[in-house]
Amino acid sequence: MNIYEYLKKDHEKVNDLLEKFFSLPKDDFEEQESLFEEIMEEVLLHSQTEEKSFYRALEDNSETQGDIEHSFEEHVEVENLLDEIASLSAEDSIWLEKMKALQKAIQHHVKFEEEEVFAKAKKILDENQAKELVKEMEKLKQEETMLPSS
Ligand SMILES: [Fe+2]
Ligand SMILES: [Fe+2]
Repeated sequence: MNIYEYLKKDHEKVNDLLEKFFSLPKDDFEEQESLFEEIMEEVLLHSQTEEKSFYRALEDNSETQGDIEHSFEEHVEVENLLDEIASLSAEDSIWLEKMKALQKAIQHHVKFEEEEVFAKAKKILDENQAKELVKEMEKLKQEETMLPSS
């Protein structure tokens, strides 16, 4: 597996969780909140380790520098939405609206990565680097999940 396949798998996982969220009964607030927690954890684990592996490998290259800066900004946008939703209750009137905004922001970012960033990265990273980055990201995830949550 290379880093592109690995990241796509992560993206699909989040996409599936979001679809599952929107298929929940509108009045099942408890289940919505617990699924949101799961989505938040999954997204943060992905974006933080992606930044330290994939983005790090591309941020100093003039071909990708701008796209990586843009990607970092989109991560911040998603994180802000996650924080905002985390402070809400599923019974709040803006809960679903904010979840829709989160889904939209994530879909936009994933499309940008998979279409723009991957194409450029494939010209910069050789096959070996693309494989090594999977190991790096896996290792970062393991370290991250072993840390006591704050
Ligand atoms: Fe990603
Ligand atoms: Fe990303």
